[in-house]
Amino acid sequence: MNKLKLGIVGCGFWSHYQTAAWKELSDQVEIVALCDRQLSKAKAQAEKFSINRIYNDAGELLKNEQIDFVDIITDVDSHVPLVKLFADHHKQIICQKPMAPSFAQALELVEYCDRKGVDFYIHENFRWQKPIRVLRKMLKEGLIGTPFKANIKFCSSFPVFDNQPFLAELDQFILTDVGTHILDVARFLFGEVDTLFCQTHRINPKINGEDVANVFMTHGTGVHCYAELSYASILEDEAFPQTYVLVEGEKGSLHLKKDYQIVYTSKESCEVIDASPPVFAWSLADYALIHTSIFECNRNILSDLCGEGRAETTAEDNLKTLKLVFEAYRSAKDNLIIHPLNS
Ligand SMILES: NC(=O)c1ccc[n+]([C@@H]2O[C@H](COP(=O)([O-])OP(=O)(O)OC[C@H]3O[C@@H](n4cnc5c(N)ncnc54)[C@H](O)[C@@H]3O)[C@@H](O)[C@H]2O)c1
Repeated sequence: MNKLKLGIVGCGFWSHYQTAAWKELSDQVEIVALCDRQLSKAKAQAEKFSINRIYNDAGELLKNEQIDFVDIITDVDSHVPLVKLFADHHKQIICQKPMAPSFAQALELVEYCDRKGVDFYIHENFRWQKPIRVLRKMLKEGLIGTPFKANIKFCSSFPVFDNQPFLAELDQFILTDVGTHILDVARFLFGEVDTLFCQTHRINPKINGEDVANVFMTHGTGVHCYAELSYASILEDEAFPQTYVLVEGEKGSLHLKKDYQIVYTSKESCEVIDASPPVFAWSLADYALIHTSIFECNRNILSDLCGEGRAETTAEDNLKTLKLVFEAYRSAKDNLIIHPLNS
């Protein structure tokens, strides 16, 4: 089988793990070149992963390399021009979240790629975390009957700015960063959102954006879901980057708790299911859960690129998540209850 040829743009913090995850699929994918506007970063990453070709300009990479697809792992401000550049050259595109700095720009980007006839995916990986997949399977199997209420919690005081200092500069922080993931998980578990209300705080005085967001949603399926996001929570069980989920249904409840344990409670019994993810040798301990999910997300997108069925995290699908993110800001700013499907 011919391997698909991949170019990677952006060789910062996250790119090292994306690259390691692609290396796990090296029977199907060959990483032909790396690009970072700081060439020293591309050079260091190329040496680490034995990749021969490096660039400091994505246009130069396109001029000199034959690639089938690109993985864009740069900060959000560069996503729009880079996606358009690769679309103009008819390359298939994967881009990190958030897709764009605003919903309007994201919509324009999806339409742009559509017109150019290129496949465009967002690397939305939280829904690929093993405990989230196991929980969804249990819900779909009807274990607790019809769910009516849920709480999704990502609350921590992990020093996320140590690894990603640019996050402190963002005017819109936690909703665009973790909110893209958590609101996607809400859609993944409970379907599309009918109404949404959000409130935010900025607790850390050293950052520009909000570091707390509480989002209340009613889903078309009837579930009332309260999503809590915080990087200001000093808690007895610091568990970054784990997401806790409690779902209540007419026949019982499912509670995804610390260390990937899912407690299934019915009137008759209470049982604990272990949903621990496998861990790759290259994973950073603090991020191992997510690192496994980036491999699963890569694999899902790759199967689409190979013509084996549609990926879950197409950019078109991700627009529905981004709509929730940016409508949550509008809700918080103007104290509004919003109907995202009609807004
Ligand atoms: N899915 C996840 O869980 C997850 C986790 C961390 C980061 N991310 C995402 O990954 C992306 C990168 O984050 P990071 O923490 O690695 O940031 P980073 O700042 O460490 O790295 C970004 C790199 O992109 C390079 N770059 C920017 N514009 C460029 C351009 N036009 N051409 C070439 N190189 C360019 C920068 O020089 C930098 O080295 C962001 O979109 C972020 O949201 C996702």
